[in-house]
Amino acid sequence: MGLDIAKIREQFPVLNQEVHGKPLVYFDNAATTQKPRSVLDALTNYYSKDNSNIHRGAHALADRATRYYEETREAIMHFINARESAEIIFTKGTTEGINLVASTFGRKFIGKGDEIIISALEHHSNIVPWHMLCEEKGAVLKVIPINEAGELIYEEFEKLLTPNTKLVSIVHASNALGSINPVKKIIDSAHAVGAKVLLDGAQSSSHLHIDVQDLDCDFFAFSAHKLYGPTGLGCLYGKREVFESMPPYQGGGEMIKEVTYEKTTYNEIPFKFEAGTPNIADVIAFKSALEFINELGKDAIKAHEDELLAYANELLLPIKGFVPIGTAKEKVSVISFNINAMHPYDVGMMLDANGFAVRTGHHCTQPLMKRLGIEGTVRASFSVYNSKSEIEKLAESVTRIARIKNK
Ligand code: ALA
Repeated sequence: MGLDIAKIREQFPVLNQEVHGKPLVYFDNAATTQKPRSVLDALTNYYSKDNSNIHRGAHALADRATRYYEETREAIMHFINARESAEIIFTKGTTEGINLVASTFGRKFIGKGDEIIISALEHHSNIVPWHMLCEEKGAVLKVIPINEAGELIYEEFEKLLTPNTKLVSIVHASNALGSINPVKKIIDSAHAVGAKVLLDGAQSSSHLHIDVQDLDCDFFAFSAHKLYGPTGLGCLYGKREVFESMPPYQGGGEMIKEVTYEKTTYNEIPFKFEAGTPNIADVIAFKSALEFINELGKDAIKAHEDELLAYANELLLPIKGFVPIGTAKEKVSVISFNINAMHPYDVGMMLDANGFAVRTGHHCTQPLMKRLGIEGTVRASFSVYNSKSEIEKLAESVTRIARIKNK
């Protein structure tokens, strides 16, 4: 039996509102998902009952907060099938996870003439940290090209691999087009030349079943806020031996074993990478978001989102003037498009006036937009609480907008 979407929607108070006098249709889930009441309650409960610093105080509140905080780490371990919770580091988000790898693994293991491979589908957060590292170290950044559908050309990737390849840092699912990359094959080939692999899981973690042991990736970075959790929180998974080989990220409290005026010895993983008081409340509330997902079931969520994507394609593709951008065979529930030659921002404004929340522009993927020869797109991205009737409304609005003649 399918999911009861009406019942699921009841758990998301933010969805029950009008914007510009129209019922809100929230189709900006690739930017951030809405939060169920259990997550909101967990935040309030924590601050009303348990607020305390963790891993430090010898009192009941500190014990409780520490326990809840570490329970989330365990829940994440199960969610992505890591071997142990020490392989999970809390960060601010996917961006910080990638920057952490660049600043620690990158600084230690990547030198002059070494090569880093990314793809033409990357978000700026998986390009800029590597530019910074290459500038500092004299390393070389190579880019796997894509075809017109927005699919990575795997044979070209194989040609880019050399004994100098130290890292392949690749997006699992594109935020701008939705394309899912063949990461398992990429990881196997990268390992064959001795390179490590980082997966940017910002978009894939909410739609696909993630098993880091099966994937065999060395790092997997993702964000809580795209998984119905709070903003400002992310996770970086890393294999124990890889994390242990890396120097710390930031210095401060918590990440040390012993400090004298002469020197510091560092804590064990994961604490070695978590200097300072962390985002305790949001970490604790994230467990409720994971429970929300687990209760519905990742497979059931994916089946619903795939159905929404297929229905959107069925209704939108025949509309005269609708131009899909990114038509990969394997996609998460993201549809990027333009209408006639209209500016994406103008289309976004018209959709907003009709109650739709979509993202417009380059989606932090300027090189990808340049490769596709466009300035940007309108992006509708679907989540578990979206319904087929909302897709029908989108198709009606797109049809009306497409009738407007461009000046
Ligand atoms: N990376 C997020 C997006 O694609 C913010 O919208």
